[in-house]
Order: sequence, then structure tokens, then C-alpha cells
Amino acid sequence: MSAITRTVSILGVTGSIGRSTVDVIEQARAQGGAISVEAITAGQNIAALAEACRRLRPRFAAVADAAQINEVRAALSGLDVEVGAGASALEEAGARPADWVMSAIVGAAGLAPTLAAVRRGAAVAIANKECLICAGPLMLRAAAESGAKLLPVDSEHNAIFQVLTHPAHVERLTLTASGGPFRTWTLEAMAAARPDQAVAHPNWSMGAKISVDSATLMNKGLELIEASYLFEMPEERIGVLIHPQSIVHSLVHYEDGSVLGQLSSPDMRTPIAHALAWPERIAVSTNRLDLAEIGGLTFAQPDLRRFPALGLAREALRAGPARVAALSAANEIAVEAFLGGRIRFLDISRIVEEAMAALEGTEAGLIAKTPSSFGEVAAVDQAAREAARRIAGSLAAA
Ligand SMILES: NC(=O)c1ccc[n+]([C@@H]2O[C@H](COP(=O)([O-])OP(=O)(O)OC[C@H]3O[C@@H](n4cnc5c(N)ncnc54)[C@H](OP(=O)(O)O)[C@@H]3O)[C@@H](O)[C@H]2O)c1
Repeated sequence: MSAITRTVSILGVTGSIGRSTVDVIEQARAQGGAISVEAITAGQNIAALAEACRRLRPRFAAVADAAQINEVRAALSGLDVEVGAGASALEEAGARPADWVMSAIVGAAGLAPTLAAVRRGAAVAIANKECLICAGPLMLRAAAESGAKLLPVDSEHNAIFQVLTHPAHVERLTLTASGGPFRTWTLEAMAAARPDQAVAHPNWSMGAKISVDSATLMNKGLELIEASYLFEMPEERIGVLIHPQSIVHSLVHYEDGSVLGQLSSPDMRTPIAHALAWPERIAVSTNRLDLAEIGGLTFAQPDLRRFPALGLAREALRAGPARVAALSAANEIAVEAFLGGRIRFLDISRIVEEAMAALEGTEAGLIAKTPSSFGEVAAVDQAAREAARRIAGSLAAA
């Protein structure tokens, strides 16, 4: 058993990944790991932030909404912690001197604090795929300039990272996908799917947004883009296989015919522990894999007719980074509208598709060129959100 020494920050400590990270840190501390916590952040769940402060004893804690500053101060009074609120406080959390930062805010809201950590050369564990997707090439350039190490936490990308021993000899990658809660549903049944059914993932317990993305397979589309950016692999060399058991987390196909994968029970504490300990390993308590008990592992091609989001993501990746950023932003708005009960399940992919078409009409210049600054990324993001809101509004009214 090896003990690690780290100063860490957790962006999005109150979410599903954030809570699992706290658990892994506590397990590492129990093994003698010297882990101090610099900063933690939440969106608006102040009670959960206070609980995380009591467990982790961070030096700084922040929430997203500046208007909540007095409420946060009151909730954290008596704890020896500096308090912040608002966008600049979240960014400060990423900028403070932790050598390892978990990026686990959901959506593009995580971009600025994650970038702050990347710019000062930290090891950044990337769970928040949207921040990488909306600004991929710029984020990778920032990491190259600062020497930051991006550690993939998404189970698929972490799996590839673990077995990517010879990058120059890779033929292709395969991302596995559980297929989500509607894997076997008919299109007619999917048309009537409710939010509570969409978030009821069969294998993983996750936040609402990624759960809906798993139900549409947009999550796999976003992961395809993430894999293309992280592992410098073109779209046509990344396949997707439906694997309902979520045991094989991805595959790397080498040019000598070898196929390497990483297997584990579906538990995010495994990739989080891998990223936290990297380049070492630590022990972490999870449900251990028992293949005899599982009995069989199955694989199938995804059905693009019922899950068009995967095709939309492939198109965006082929079109370039601005289209990719627009796709992810439009999807965030569509998922929010579905979770709010304003649109139907199949409208999510429809809104994304129509938003892309609308932008090609009105903002063709904006989404055709590769953004050369984070300001340009923000302009694409905003235009896509506006288009998606307009379309969602008209579908809701129909
Ligand atoms: N969960 C998984 O198993 C899993 C696996 C792979 C990748 N990921 C990725 O990891 C990220 C987090 O997923 P999750 O499942 O942990 O989500 P989640 O449970 O919804 O947690 C999201 C976190 O972000 C915070 N947050 C929400 N809106 C915010 C905003 N506008 N500004 C600042 N903070 C905000 C939330 O704070 P409050 O709690 O205060 O709202 C919470 O701490 C996502 O990008 C997801 O795709 C998740």
C-alpha cells in the first residue's frame, strides 16, 4: 500500500463526482496519505458545501452565486475557512495553489475555474467534459504552455489513459456505452419518456445532466469529442459499442492486432483514485469485479435512428471546434428544458440539430472558424444557447 502526498482542490465538491472524490480522499488519508485541501466549490448547495468543509477542512470555499455570500458566511462560521461567492471566487478556487485539482462542475460553467488551474500548471483531473469540449484546442494549448497534466476521469477516457502505452502504434479506439435507460425502448416509448425515467441510469449513479445525456447518447457523443481532443485521434478512428454491463470501459486497438481494455465494476471511485494517485496507485474500496457472477459481457452497435445525438456529435467533430462548442451549449439548454418539463425527450436532439442549422444560417462565420480566443468561444456558446432557447420555446408553445 503506498501513501501519497498532495494539496488538492475540488471544483464541484457537492456533486456526484465531488462526493466520490471526498470519499476517495478520506480513504487515501486513512492509508496514511498526506492530503491537504486548498479550495472547494459548490453551485448553490450551501448545506452540502458546509458538510464538505467539516470533512475536508479546506482553506477556501466558494459558491457560484455572488448574492449568496452572507448565507455562506453564516453556514461556515466557526470553521476556519475563507469564503467567497460569484464567478471570480470560483476562478480563485482554481487559481489557488493546489497541485491536484478535480474539475467536476457540470457544464461550461466549469471552464473559467478549470482554466485557472490549467494555466498555473496543476495536475487537473477532468471529469467536467463540457469545459474541455467547449474550448478543447485552447485548453490543450494552455496545458502545453503551462505544463499542466490533464488526467481523464470519465471512466472511458481513464480506461484508455491506463492502457495507452504506445500512442504511436494505435490503430483506433473504441468507447463503450451502457446504452442508458432507454437502450431497449421503442421510439414511441422514448417520445413519452419522463425526466424521472431518463435520470434512472441502470448502472451509474450520476448528476441529472449527465444522466439525461446518457439517455440520449449525447454523453457518448461528447465523450467521442473528448477522446478525439485528449488522445489526438480523428473522428473516423473512434468507434462506439453498446456494452450494457459497463464492465469494459473502453478499448485501445493496436496495429499488431492487440486490443487492450480496462475492466472494473461501474464505480467512479476507481478512475478518481487512479487520477488522484497518478502516477502511483492507491487502494480504494469499491465493489470488486466478479466476472463469473456477471456471467457474460455483450456488445452491439448503437442505433443511430433512436439515438441521433451520437451522429450529431460526429458531424460537429468533423466540422470543427466552434461547431463542437455550439453543440454542447445547445445540448445544455435542451437538457435543462427537458428536466424542467418544458419539452419532450426526443426534442432534446431535435433542438440541438435545429440550433446547428440555425447557426449555419445566421452565424455561419462564427461557427465555421476555429475560435482563437476564449472570448470567441464565449460568443459561440452564447449564440448556440440563444438559438436553442428560441427553438425550445417554440416547441414548448406548440
Ligand atoms: N457522475 C458521474 O458518474 C460522471 C462520470 C463521468 C463524467 N462526469 C462529468 O462530471 C461533471 C459533474 O457531473 P456530476 O454527475 O458530478 O454532476 P452533479 O452531481 O450535477 O454535480 C455538479 C456540480 O457542479 C456544481 N454546479 C452546478 N452548476 C454550477 C454553476 N453554474 N457554477 C458552479 N458550480 C455549479 C454543483 O453544485 P450544487 O450541488 O451546489 O448544485 C455540483 O457541485 C459533468 O461534467 C459530468 O459530465 C460525471
